[in-house]
Amino acid sequence: MHAKSRDEIAAAYISPPWWYDVRGFFILTFAYNSTLTRQLRFFGPNFGARHLEVACGTGTLLELVLRWRRWHHLPQRRIVGVDYAESMLAGAERRFAGQPNIELRHADVAALPYEDDSFDTVNIANAIHCFPDVDGALNDIRRVLKPGGTVAANVLLYPRTIWPFNAIADWLDNWGIRKGILVTPYRRDDIRQRILNAGFEISSEVVFGNCYEVLIQKPLARSVNP
Ligand SMILES: C[S@@+](CC[C@H](N)C(=O)[O-])C[C@H]1O[C@@H](n2cnc3c(N)ncnc32)[C@H](O)[C@@H]1O
Repeated sequence: MHAKSRDEIAAAYISPPWWYDVRGFFILTFAYNSTLTRQLRFFGPNFGARHLEVACGTGTLLELVLRWRRWHHLPQRRIVGVDYAESMLAGAERRFAGQPNIELRHADVAALPYEDDSFDTVNIANAIHCFPDVDGALNDIRRVLKPGGTVAANVLLYPRTIWPFNAIADWLDNWGIRKGILVTPYRRDDIRQRILNAGFEISSEVVFGNCYEVLIQKPLARSVNP
Protein backbone atom coordinates (compact mmCIF):
# COMPACT_ATOMS: atom_id res chain seq x y z
CA MET A 1 0.00 0.00 0.00
CA HIS A 2 1.46 3.40 -0.95
CA ALA A 3 1.90 6.07 1.73
CA LYS A 4 -0.90 8.62 1.60
CA SER A 5 -0.20 12.24 0.73
CA ARG A 6 -1.25 15.12 2.97
CA ASP A 7 -4.14 15.91 0.57
CA GLU A 8 -5.37 12.30 0.70
CA ILE A 9 -5.13 12.43 4.48
CA ALA A 10 -7.04 15.71 4.64
CA ALA A 11 -9.72 14.24 2.34
CA ALA A 12 -10.10 11.26 4.72
CA TYR A 13 -11.44 13.65 7.39
CA ILE A 14 -14.78 14.21 5.68
CA SER A 15 -17.01 12.84 8.45
CA PRO A 16 -19.26 15.33 10.23
CA PRO A 17 -17.58 16.61 13.40
CA TRP A 18 -20.10 14.84 15.72
CA TRP A 19 -19.27 11.45 14.16
CA TYR A 20 -15.56 12.23 14.37
CA ASP A 21 -16.03 12.77 18.14
CA VAL A 22 -17.96 9.52 18.70
CA ARG A 23 -15.45 7.57 16.64
CA GLY A 24 -12.59 9.30 18.49
CA PHE A 25 -13.90 7.99 21.81
CA PHE A 26 -13.68 4.36 20.57
CA ILE A 27 -10.23 4.92 19.08
CA LEU A 28 -9.00 6.50 22.33
CA THR A 29 -10.30 3.58 24.39
CA PHE A 30 -9.56 0.59 22.16
CA ALA A 31 -6.61 1.63 19.94
CA TYR A 32 -4.75 4.00 22.28
CA ASN A 33 -5.87 2.15 25.45
CA SER A 34 -5.96 5.56 27.10
CA THR A 35 -8.52 7.79 28.80
CA LEU A 36 -9.76 11.33 28.41
CA THR A 37 -8.79 12.17 32.00
CA ARG A 38 -5.24 11.09 31.29
CA GLN A 39 -5.07 13.30 28.20
CA LEU A 40 -6.45 16.33 30.07
CA ARG A 41 -3.82 15.92 32.81
CA PHE A 42 -1.06 15.46 30.25
CA PHE A 43 -1.85 18.31 27.84
CA GLY A 44 -3.56 20.73 30.27
CA PRO A 45 -0.45 22.11 32.01
CA ASN A 46 1.54 22.72 28.79
CA PHE A 47 0.21 26.18 27.83
CA GLY A 48 2.66 29.09 27.72
CA ALA A 49 1.78 32.72 27.03
CA ARG A 50 1.50 32.02 23.28
CA HIS A 51 0.51 28.45 22.55
CA LEU A 52 0.35 26.47 19.29
CA GLU A 53 -2.12 23.59 19.07
CA VAL A 54 -0.87 21.50 16.19
CA ALA A 55 -3.45 19.46 14.26
CA CYS A 56 -6.28 20.77 16.44
CA GLY A 57 -8.95 18.94 14.42
CA THR A 58 -12.49 20.01 15.35
CA GLY A 59 -11.15 21.37 18.65
CA THR A 60 -13.10 18.90 20.82
CA LEU A 61 -10.11 17.93 22.90
CA LEU A 62 -8.74 21.48 22.97
CA GLU A 63 -12.06 22.77 24.34
CA LEU A 64 -12.06 20.11 27.08
CA VAL A 65 -8.44 20.92 27.92
CA LEU A 66 -9.31 24.62 28.22
CA ARG A 67 -12.21 23.73 30.54
CA TRP A 68 -9.82 21.61 32.61
CA ARG A 69 -7.50 24.63 32.83
CA ARG A 70 -10.33 26.91 33.99
CA TRP A 71 -11.34 24.30 36.60
CA HIS A 72 -7.73 24.38 37.87
CA HIS A 73 -7.65 28.22 37.83
CA LEU A 74 -4.87 28.29 35.24
CA PRO A 75 -4.51 31.51 33.20
CA GLN A 76 -6.12 32.11 29.83
CA ARG A 77 -3.62 32.02 26.96
CA ARG A 78 -3.30 33.25 23.38
CA ILE A 79 -3.79 30.12 21.31
CA VAL A 80 -3.21 29.37 17.64
CA GLY A 81 -4.75 26.15 16.28
CA VAL A 82 -3.67 24.73 12.93
CA ASP A 83 -4.94 21.79 10.92
CA TYR A 84 -4.60 20.59 7.35
CA ALA A 85 -8.17 19.22 6.94
CA GLU A 86 -10.53 22.07 6.11
CA SER A 87 -13.62 20.13 7.26
CA MET A 88 -12.06 19.61 10.69
CA LEU A 89 -10.99 23.23 10.93
CA ALA A 90 -14.52 24.36 10.02
CA GLY A 91 -15.77 22.48 13.11
CA ALA A 92 -13.16 24.25 15.26
CA GLU A 93 -14.11 27.64 13.78
CA ARG A 94 -17.76 27.12 14.81
CA ARG A 95 -16.74 25.87 18.24
CA PHE A 96 -14.44 28.80 19.08
CA ALA A 97 -16.37 31.58 17.31
CA GLY A 98 -16.31 34.76 19.39
CA GLN A 99 -13.23 33.77 21.41
CA PRO A 100 -10.65 36.42 20.48
CA ASN A 101 -7.78 34.61 22.21
CA ILE A 102 -8.12 31.64 19.83
CA GLU A 103 -6.96 31.98 16.23
CA LEU A 104 -7.38 29.13 13.72
CA ARG A 105 -5.43 28.61 10.53
CA HIS A 106 -5.37 26.12 7.68
CA ALA A 107 -1.76 24.97 7.57
CA ASP A 108 0.49 21.98 7.05
CA VAL A 109 2.44 21.18 10.19
CA ALA A 110 5.56 20.59 8.07
CA ALA A 111 5.35 24.14 6.61
CA LEU A 112 3.98 26.34 9.39
CA PRO A 113 3.22 29.93 8.32
CA TYR A 114 4.90 31.44 11.41
CA GLU A 115 8.23 33.06 12.11
CA ASP A 116 11.05 31.35 13.97
CA ASP A 117 10.75 31.39 17.79
CA SER A 118 7.06 32.44 17.78
CA PHE A 119 5.53 30.15 20.42
CA ASP A 120 6.18 29.30 24.07
CA THR A 121 4.51 25.90 23.98
CA VAL A 122 3.11 23.37 21.50
CA ASN A 123 0.70 20.48 22.02
CA ILE A 124 0.39 17.66 19.48
CA ALA A 125 -2.57 15.62 20.68
CA ASN A 126 -3.35 12.30 19.00
CA ALA A 127 -1.78 13.42 15.76
CA ILE A 128 1.94 12.71 15.20
CA HIS A 129 1.10 9.27 13.80
CA CYS A 130 -1.23 10.99 11.30
CA PHE A 131 1.52 13.11 9.71
CA PRO A 132 2.81 11.95 6.31
CA ASP A 133 6.11 13.79 6.90
CA VAL A 134 6.78 13.36 10.61
CA ASP A 135 10.42 14.50 10.38
CA GLY A 136 9.44 17.66 8.46
CA ALA A 137 6.74 18.29 11.08
CA LEU A 138 9.12 17.93 14.04
CA ASN A 139 11.69 20.20 12.37
CA ASP A 140 9.17 22.94 11.66
CA ILE A 141 7.66 22.73 15.14
CA ARG A 142 11.15 23.19 16.59
CA ARG A 143 11.72 26.17 14.28
CA VAL A 144 8.59 28.06 15.44
CA LEU A 145 9.12 27.22 19.13
CA LYS A 146 11.13 29.60 21.31
CA PRO A 147 14.36 28.26 22.85
CA GLY A 148 13.40 26.59 26.13
CA GLY A 149 9.83 26.09 24.87
CA THR A 150 8.10 22.77 25.49
CA VAL A 151 6.09 20.34 23.37
CA ALA A 152 3.70 17.73 24.77
CA ALA A 153 2.91 14.88 22.39
CA ASN A 154 1.35 11.45 22.57
CA VAL A 155 2.26 8.90 19.93
CA LEU A 156 0.31 5.79 19.00
CA LEU A 157 2.49 2.67 19.39
CA TYR A 158 2.03 -0.76 17.84
CA PRO A 159 -0.34 -2.70 20.13
CA ARG A 160 1.50 -3.91 23.21
CA THR A 161 -1.38 -5.28 25.34
CA ILE A 162 -2.66 -8.85 25.64
CA TRP A 163 -5.25 -10.71 23.57
CA PRO A 164 -8.04 -9.79 22.77
CA PHE A 165 -7.19 -6.10 23.35
CA ASN A 166 -4.13 -6.17 21.08
CA ALA A 167 -6.18 -7.79 18.30
CA ILE A 168 -8.86 -5.07 18.59
CA ALA A 169 -6.20 -2.33 18.56
CA ASP A 170 -4.49 -3.94 15.56
CA TRP A 171 -7.79 -4.12 13.67
CA LEU A 172 -8.54 -0.44 14.44
CA ASP A 173 -5.03 0.63 13.37
CA ASN A 174 -5.32 -1.18 10.05
CA TRP A 175 -8.78 0.28 9.47
CA GLY A 176 -7.40 3.78 10.17
CA ILE A 177 -4.50 3.25 7.76
CA ARG A 178 -6.85 2.01 5.00
CA LYS A 179 -9.17 4.97 5.59
CA GLY A 180 -6.27 7.44 5.58
CA ILE A 181 -6.74 8.87 9.09
CA LEU A 182 -3.65 7.06 10.42
CA VAL A 183 -0.28 6.94 8.67
CA THR A 184 1.41 4.45 10.99
CA PRO A 185 1.75 3.48 14.64
CA TYR A 186 5.37 3.71 15.86
CA ARG A 187 7.86 1.74 17.87
CA ARG A 188 8.89 3.85 20.83
CA ASP A 189 12.59 3.85 19.95
CA ASP A 190 11.87 4.94 16.37
CA ILE A 191 9.80 8.02 17.25
CA ARG A 192 12.12 8.83 20.16
CA GLN A 193 15.11 8.91 17.81
CA ARG A 194 13.22 11.10 15.30
CA ILE A 195 12.47 13.58 18.11
CA LEU A 196 16.15 13.70 19.08
CA ASN A 197 17.21 13.98 15.41
CA ALA A 198 14.96 17.03 15.07
CA GLY A 199 17.05 18.75 17.74
CA PHE A 200 14.82 18.38 20.81
CA GLU A 201 15.73 17.26 24.31
CA ILE A 202 13.45 14.83 26.13
CA SER A 203 12.25 16.16 29.50
CA SER A 204 10.01 13.26 30.49
CA GLU A 205 8.55 10.18 28.84
CA VAL A 206 6.25 7.34 29.73
CA VAL A 207 4.50 4.52 27.91
CA PHE A 208 0.88 4.01 28.95
CA GLY A 209 -1.51 1.65 27.15
CA ASN A 210 -0.53 1.83 23.48
CA CYS A 211 0.76 5.41 23.79
CA TYR A 212 4.13 7.03 24.20
CA GLU A 213 3.61 10.28 26.11
CA VAL A 214 6.58 12.57 25.79
CA LEU A 215 7.41 16.07 26.97
CA ILE A 216 10.21 17.62 24.95
CA GLN A 217 12.08 20.89 24.93
CA LYS A 218 13.84 23.06 22.38
CA PRO A 219 17.33 23.59 23.82
CA LEU A 220 18.22 27.06 25.02
CA ALA A 221 20.52 28.87 22.60
CA ARG A 222 24.14 28.14 23.46
CA SER A 223 26.24 31.11 24.39
CA VAL A 224 29.05 31.68 21.91
CA ASN A 225 32.54 31.75 23.46
CA PRO A 226 34.41 35.00 22.80
C1 LIG B 1 -6.76 12.14 15.01
S1 LIG B 1 -6.90 13.85 14.61
C2 LIG B 1 -6.53 14.64 16.15
C3 LIG B 1 -7.24 15.95 16.33
C4 LIG B 1 -7.14 16.59 17.71
N1 LIG B 1 -5.78 16.96 18.04
C5 LIG B 1 -7.72 15.69 18.78
O1 LIG B 1 -6.97 15.21 19.63
O2 LIG B 1 -8.92 15.43 18.76
C6 LIG B 1 -5.47 14.13 13.63
C7 LIG B 1 -5.48 15.50 12.95
O3 LIG B 1 -4.22 15.68 12.29
C8 LIG B 1 -4.46 16.50 11.17
N2 LIG B 1 -3.32 16.43 10.25
C9 LIG B 1 -2.84 15.34 9.60
N3 LIG B 1 -1.79 15.68 8.85
C10 LIG B 1 -1.59 17.02 9.02
C11 LIG B 1 -0.65 17.95 8.51
N4 LIG B 1 0.30 17.59 7.65
N5 LIG B 1 -0.74 19.25 8.91
C12 LIG B 1 -1.72 19.63 9.80
N6 LIG B 1 -2.63 18.80 10.31
C13 LIG B 1 -2.58 17.49 9.93
C14 LIG B 1 -5.75 15.90 10.59
O4 LIG B 1 -6.36 16.78 9.67
C15 LIG B 1 -6.54 15.66 11.87
O5 LIG B 1 -7.37 16.76 12.18
